Amino acid sequence: MKTQITELFGIKHPIIQGGMHFVGLAEMAAAVSNAGGLGIITALTQPSPDGLAKEIARCNEMTDKPIGVNLTFLPGFASPDYPGYIKAIAEGGVKVVETAGRSPEAYMDELKANDIKVIHKCTSVRHSLKAERIGCDAVSVDGFECGGHPGEDDIPNMILLPRAAEELSVPFVASGGMGNANQLVAALALGAEGINMGTRFIATKEAPVHQNVKDAIIAASELDTRLIMRPLRNTERVLNNAAVEQIVAIEKEKGDAMGIEDIAEHVGGAYPKIMQEGTMDAGAWSCGMVAGLIHDIPTCQELIDRIMGEAEATIAGRLAAFAS
Ligand SMILES: Cc1cc2nc3c(=O)[nH]c(=O)nc-3n(C[C@H](O)[C@H](O)[C@H](O)COP(=O)(O)O)c2cc1C
Repeated sequence: MKTQITELFGIKHPIIQGGMHFVGLAEMAAAVSNAGGLGIITALTQPSPDGLAKEIARCNEMTDKPIGVNLTFLPGFASPDYPGYIKAIAEGGVKVVETAGRSPEAYMDELKANDIKVIHKCTSVRHSLKAERIGCDAVSVDGFECGGHPGEDDIPNMILLPRAAEELSVPFVASGGMGNANQLVAALALGAEGINMGTRFIATKEAPVHQNVKDAIIAASELDTRLIMRPLRNTERVLNNAAVEQIVAIEKEKGDAMGIEDIAEHVGGAYPKIMQEGTMDAGAWSCGMVAGLIHDIPTCQELIDRIMGEAEATIAGRLAAFAS
């Protein structure tokens, strides 16, 4: 399938694997890229630009296909060495960067000087327009369903995608809640040029995470995620567990007076314990509502081939029949 996104990034299928903390390692990105999608390494999982350089080199040994790197601009004061990470990206020959969080404006000149395409992840039309204005090549439009940070507007993709289509000139992919072929077809119908998936890619054979994490996604229904940190205006959709129930109770008790220090023990440092050790109640971890649609653990190749094969069959079959 050819779309503006496959052309822009030089990939076979319009499927991107979004950056994921402690999941977006070389193995994950290479598996997605080898299957014809765009695999993405998560920069900030690496403790330093040097660590990222090594991870990119490791990934380049596992695939000769295009890969991307996610650069998440965190809220608050602690600023990682973003110029150093960008240098590692450029020197590693990576030509696609997925930015997220705050605006990438301050780094656009550097990225463009290195001939890097930028796709910015946005949870609103106004942020998408800003991304377009500052020179981003594409946008990943992330609906309320998404795992991770859905923003504070709570607009689901059934509205957000067609609104983005009304306003944007640059191509965009549908992110949040995507997991199967019919959703890809729906996203294309709503104006997107492809999809971005997070949670779905964790439940694959190659995802470099503990089996407990994959099993938790399979066991979860669409009712099992929770929103946390709303009082901090840093809302995150996570899978419910004992730690999350404690966070929710603290939020209820403290209301808007809550500070990050009140929940720090349940959010700080949880990712390695969960993703690597499989200690599932160690803290909060991002997970999307799409968990309710995930019932197996295929390889990335099987997953992408299934999505593309079924999507093309639906377009040529069921949908074409409606048109005639
Ligand atoms: C475990 C996990 C970790 C994530 N970490 C990041 C991250 O570090 N930076 C980022 O921009 N997005 C992150 N995301 C968001 C994904 O890139 C993607 O936008 C999101 O998962 C899409 O929604 P979905 O899970 O419904 O597919 C994360 C998502 C998950 C599930």
